Amino acid sequence: MLNLHKMPEFTFPENFLWGSGSAAHQIEGNNVNNQWWHMEQSGNNPSIHAPSGKACNSWQMLDDDIRLLKELGHQAYRFSVEWSRIEPRHGEYDQAALDRYIGFLQKLRANGIHTSVTLLHFTHPQWFEELGGFTKEENIRYFTGFLTFAVPQLAPYTDSWTVVNEINLGSTAFDALVKRKVLLKAFAYGSAVVKSFSAAPVSAAHALIPCYPLRVHDPLDTAAAHLNNWVTNEYFFHGVRTGEIILPQMDVEYVPELKNSCDFWAVNYYHRRKVDARKANMAADKMYFNNFRMCLDYPADREFCPEVFVDAMAKLTDKPIWITENGVCTDTDEFRTIYLMLQLEAMRTAMELYSADIRAYFHWSLLDNYEWGTYDMRFGLASVDKKTFVRTPKPSAYFYKDVIRANGMSGELFAKHTPALPHFEMMDMTQPKKQLSQETQA
Ligand code: FCB
Repeated sequence: MLNLHKMPEFTFPENFLWGSGSAAHQIEGNNVNNQWWHMEQSGNNPSIHAPSGKACNSWQMLDDDIRLLKELGHQAYRFSVEWSRIEPRHGEYDQAALDRYIGFLQKLRANGIHTSVTLLHFTHPQWFEELGGFTKEENIRYFTGFLTFAVPQLAPYTDSWTVVNEINLGSTAFDALVKRKVLLKAFAYGSAVVKSFSAAPVSAAHALIPCYPLRVHDPLDTAAAHLNNWVTNEYFFHGVRTGEIILPQMDVEYVPELKNSCDFWAVNYYHRRKVDARKANMAADKMYFNNFRMCLDYPADREFCPEVFVDAMAKLTDKPIWITENGVCTDTDEFRTIYLMLQLEAMRTAMELYSADIRAYFHWSLLDNYEWGTYDMRFGLASVDKKTFVRTPKPSAYFYKDVIRANGMSGELFAKHTPALPHFEMMDMTQPKKQLSQETQA
């Protein structure tokens, strides 16, 4: 087994981009005009345990976030602009809000930080929600209208774009698949708008969730895993490669704007999914003995599998790959360092084994932020005081800082940051080869 303390040194390619990410609703606070805020206030969604409130107060503390990025040595920052701030009412634009984002971009640039802008990260204006949001294809024009207003002004200061974040999340029920299709089209038309104003690379951040059968030799589990893989991952990659949208129970559609809409694969990787054909939602119970669990301190544990990441990279060698999100929610910060080390090792392996052209890594997240219904899931490299909003980097942030500085990692670097982990030696199960003696029994 792997002994992280003894891992050989590895240097990432020159110009590899290291950074972190966030999303408007998760950090800004008081995003009162979007559908999430309304959902939080309505109190009728059981998966929302806490409202977002002031979040990390980043709307007021943009300079603090830049200072933190600098202190931690980050070279790039991925964040989202909030459509509902820029167009709070249909057709009414708030130039001051857009200017604030522009000012932030200018400051990031002035600090030598690559600016990566997400244009839609789960939240949209409440007025758009009331029109049916992304459940209706005819509503895509509202999104492209917003882009036509905002993108030309953001473009001079933006180094890369994520037009839409994670089109492929949600249930695989028919209604949810219809929404997935509308979002994919919104991405296609949206990326055409972005490309008409900007030469910076464009993509859609894809939640890469490789699906595996629970019972590997069972024909139904295997078929269900294939189906899940298609509607979760492959339909997206196939769509971007060919322009065809193929989803179950729908006629195939060809969308010319979708073909080659991504200049790079933007991969958000957290975990795999095990599929059980004998369950209504097809989600298998986890196996605990084998792989690292994503959430040590939260019941929603998921399987983080470095090997699964490596295998998935083998299918994405036709474009440069940016890891636009990867991270772990844990209150045991040492585990974040371990997790990061394993992810880096998985990236190295994919690069060596499959020549995967991985060019960037954005850790999720810079801050402990609002995790869509709770503050209990802490993904941050820095914690945020609930009252003062003061940001305090965790030890793992300094491990990551050293990785960035070295543009690589080694067992030595890992050991420096995990002095209290002698038990990790225990992971080294490889025994020296036994020399067979000549001795006989008699
Ligand atoms: C991703 C989301 C991001 C955050 C992380 C943990 O699916 O894009 O906003 O919630 O998960």
